[in-house]
Amino acid sequence: MKIGVAKEIDAAEPRVGATPDTVKKFKALGAEVAVEPGAGIKSGLLDADYEAAGATISADAVKDADIVVKVKRPEASEVARYKKGALVVAIMDPYGNDVALKVMADAGVAAFAMELMPRITRAQVMDVLSSQANLAGYRAVIEAAEAFGRAFPMMMTAAGTVPAAKVFVMGVGVAGLQAIATAKRLGAVVTATDVRPAVKEQVESLGAKFLAVEDEEFKNAQTAGGYAKEMSKEYQAKQAALTAEHIKKQDVVITTALIPGRPAPRLVSADMVKSMKPGSVLIDLAVERGGNVEGVVSGQTAEVNGVKIVGIPNLAGRVAASASSLYAKNLLSFIETMIDKSAKVLAINWDDELVKATALTKDGAVIHPNFQPKA
Ligand code: NAI
Repeated sequence: MKIGVAKEIDAAEPRVGATPDTVKKFKALGAEVAVEPGAGIKSGLLDADYEAAGATISADAVKDADIVVKVKRPEASEVARYKKGALVVAIMDPYGNDVALKVMADAGVAAFAMELMPRITRAQVMDVLSSQANLAGYRAVIEAAEAFGRAFPMMMTAAGTVPAAKVFVMGVGVAGLQAIATAKRLGAVVTATDVRPAVKEQVESLGAKFLAVEDEEFKNAQTAGGYAKEMSKEYQAKQAALTAEHIKKQDVVITTALIPGRPAPRLVSADMVKSMKPGSVLIDLAVERGGNVEGVVSGQTAEVNGVKIVGIPNLAGRVAASASSLYAKNLLSFIETMIDKSAKVLAINWDDELVKATALTKDGAVIHPNFQPKA
């Protein structure tokens, strides 16, 4: 059983799918581990660290691997190097990427999308959305503090008082909750909104104020899976009116709203941005899915009347060492379920609900029901 740890070819992706710690655990499970040179360097992990953990360093690490661990979905040039039948485990970003899924199917690999892991107790330790969103939420506040020309905490000094920054968090899932907690730690006055009613109590327990249109639709906005539904036009209009009034008075807005498989909901219009004071900052965590803020540009800071709209993709990558450490643990926990621990061989149960939920391709075809090629 050979595990290959790929070096990400996207220069903007500093994370890695295995750490020396997880290499040791894979070895204990009976696997040989090979790592592509420099795979961990942007996460502060040296080739020598992997070697000390028992891995070999090889430019051909993925070539004859039974399991390839990665961060991002492999491109055609990458899968071409993998063995037919190899398992490839990564964040696959499958929605709207039919061509890329077909490339993996045609290459004969079995691709697993970690972000499709069901949110059940057994799979909590494999939940990459949570592990990465938590860090992204933290980092969003750090980026906001950096871009904001004022201090976050209230400071009473002989020379005068600096008021506490007003931070508004829109979308309170894993990232939003961590953003609230981080902003509170920095001394900001925090408000937050979401469409799922369960959030209200969570926001209040962190010492922030909850603000939302709490109508009938709001009461039913959470799916059985715990995610938000796409809201009606009517709800969106009521929400926009409430937001417009509130946002004018905010210094920092952090948006994290996502709906699985859909473009991110537009929560902040250009007019709302214009209504904010110069020097205010918006950090849009949904930028990779189209953005929650009108005018956000991926990889740039757009400026409108002195208001900054920050569009940093892959915020978790800005805390790469922490992100890789948690991500690698998520992967290990999932891959462990596919190994027969006594015989020390790969033994995938294709009927396991975790496998069924995440398996995208197998034996030359796209097998996931949500991503069947259109007739
Ligand atoms: P997400 O990343 O899909 O979305 C972020 C937030 O945006 C969500 O809170 C969502 O309700 C909100 N949102 C969507 N549309 C919106 C709109 N139009 N206006 C305002 N807000 C909007 O969410 P995430 O972080 O994946 O969390 C979803 C749920 O899953 C949460 O309840 C979380 O606590 C739960 N969860 C459960 C886990 C488990 O049981 N193992 C693990 C992690 C999260």
